[in-house]
Amino acid sequence: MIPRKLIDKLRASERILVLTGAGISAESGLATFRDPGGHWDQYRPEDLANEEAFRRDPKLVQGWYAARRKAILAALPNPGHLALAALSSAVPELTLVTQNVDRLHQRAGSEKVIELHGNIHQFYCIECGLEAPESAFSVMDAGKVASCANCGGLIRPAVVWFGEALPKQALDEAWARAEVADVLLSIGTSGLVYPAAHLPMVAKRRGAFLVEINVTPSALANEMDLVLGGKAGEVLPALLAALQTHKNV
Ligand code: OAD
Repeated sequence: MIPRKLIDKLRASERILVLTGAGISAESGLATFRDPGGHWDQYRPEDLANEEAFRRDPKLVQGWYAARRKAILAALPNPGHLALAALSSAVPELTLVTQNVDRLHQRAGSEKVIELHGNIHQFYCIECGLEAPESAFSVMDAGKVASCANCGGLIRPAVVWFGEALPKQALDEAWARAEVADVLLSIGTSGLVYPAAHLPMVAKRRGAFLVEINVTPSALANEMDLVLGGKAGEVLPALLAALQTHKNV
């Protein structure tokens, strides 16, 4: 299942960059965005994931993010997240960059995770920036609009919305790691959202070996040196096992 060439590349590599997307959390029971039944099947991104939509209908937007946060808190990291956390101890250097806001990588034990699209666990005031207390989540879970205790402004999730810049430090760091990576694993992402989808190309230009793990070929599949079709929660544990077996030979 795992080509020997990939094991050899990983064994010889000094710097691995992993880019993950919603697909890695699918086996934790969390919906992706663009698969059938995904979030963007139910809603149009422009009705939910931008500031204008938020100001127009804060109850809808807060409620949607609060419900997602609740589902995420009830979910568990799956074998894909766990294998990636273990992989970082099995190789010299692994940088994990995610587009996910669920923090399941951290819960699986990955210590340093570069979050390109923020995280859904923090909310802050859109006017004064004050972080919302835990009690705000009970308000939103009850279907009411939560506002800032300091200034009365609306509170919003600490995620990146359409039309907003990615957190500069996270993007700079991810870009810099892509430029020096010798292997890049692109896992469970459609490769349709930029600038995250640039990272494999940045790595490729510098000579990295690109690998995709996905149940269906992504928009970037043709750029890959190797495409492993399958679920991240099955392929990644197999990859880890193959790497460890080979190491002991
Ligand atoms: P998408 O929903 O666009 O793509 C999910 C990908 O995961 C698809 O390519 C699926 O084939 C794949 N997939 C599904 N289940 C899988 C599994 N078990 N194992 C491996 N692959 C699987 O999600 P992203 O690419 O993460 O942005 O979307 C990128 C961004 O678009 C998100 O971060 C979000 C969204 O709009 C913001 O909200 C800013």
